[in-house]
Amino acid sequence: MKKAVLVTGGAGYIGSHTTLALAIEGYHVVILDDFSQSQTVDLPWAEVMHGDIADVVLLNIIFKRYEIQAVFHFAAFIEVGESVKRPRSFYDNNVSKTATLLAVMLDHDVRRIIFSSSCAVYGAPQYVPMDEFHPTAPVSPYGRTKLAVEFMLQDYARAYGLGYASLRYFNASGAQWEHGLGEQHTPETHLIPLLLDAITQGREVYIFGDDYATLDGTCVRDYVHVRDLAQAHVLAFKQLLNKSESLVINVGTGVGHSVREVLAVTEHVCRRAAKVQVMPRRLGDAPVLVSNTQRMQEIFCWQPEHSDLMTIVTSAYAWHQQRRQERQALHVTL
Ligand code: UFG
Repeated sequence: MKKAVLVTGGAGYIGSHTTLALAIEGYHVVILDDFSQSQTVDLPWAEVMHGDIADVVLLNIIFKRYEIQAVFHFAAFIEVGESVKRPRSFYDNNVSKTATLLAVMLDHDVRRIIFSSSCAVYGAPQYVPMDEFHPTAPVSPYGRTKLAVEFMLQDYARAYGLGYASLRYFNASGAQWEHGLGEQHTPETHLIPLLLDAITQGREVYIFGDDYATLDGTCVRDYVHVRDLAQAHVLAFKQLLNKSESLVINVGTGVGHSVREVLAVTEHVCRRAAKVQVMPRRLGDAPVLVSNTQRMQEIFCWQPEHSDLMTIVTSAYAWHQQRRQERQALHVTL
């Protein structure tokens, strides 16, 4: 049997970058994705299977065909606002299906999982930077589904010897346009892709609230380049292979940037001034979310290498332009 790693949601934004990092490290990567959230299809470094993560027949085939060393579990619904409107589908997709996946893993004696968690498990920050001991009180169904899976992992670790790494991401951003990978969600709600779209097309950009208790009144976030995030997954996997000790860990940079700062850098990169409209605060937005990175540094000696704001926005812009040109070329051909 061939050794491999299984990546659910491997065609999505963070998943696809992680499959590339794993392939570069020499792992045979099998992706399981239903393509409901992603249009990325060209992943020549991986074997792509189209299907549902709770399709027991398909999972049995995969686990019989390969000696799966670990499952990287990205497949999930992620849009916070949607989770408030449709909690049922979030609990079904993010929690119930994870339970099915874990059950099949255990049936096949696959006992390592790297889970895509979120800083959303913390809820409103009681202090910043937030470390892993910060109380978990998620304010959205999305955050609660992530925390529910974390509890499941804890219990399964104790009862069934599962080894897990729960990575609590801060704001994943940036692209690897040279590999055709970038950020694209439907609907898009994330700041950097929205700014790039609006500025390059001369449309208005929206700032959701400029009356927060921050330096310039706009929300502060910890933007981590998706390439650094992908590397963190590889490190977590190696840690599980070597020590089999489970861990919960923040993945951020420890540096916060306000919406206005991100806007200024994006205007610079696009060489164009934005038309700005200040809107009311967006429901559920915390004023400041910044990670304490001590554990990441201590356990993994991990330092983000691509996460300065200029590199993030420049890479996202390059990918944005590449896609625009591809769309234009397609239009001319048609
Ligand atoms: N924002 C704007 N204008 C926009 C879009 C966003 O001002 O057009 C602001 C938001 O209000 C927020 C900041 O930009 O203050 C960042 O917003 P994003 O939507 O890019 O990211 P979030 O911080 O809201 O979301 C991130 C992750 C989610 C996770 C959440 C946890 O992307 O997956 O943190 O709070 F759930």
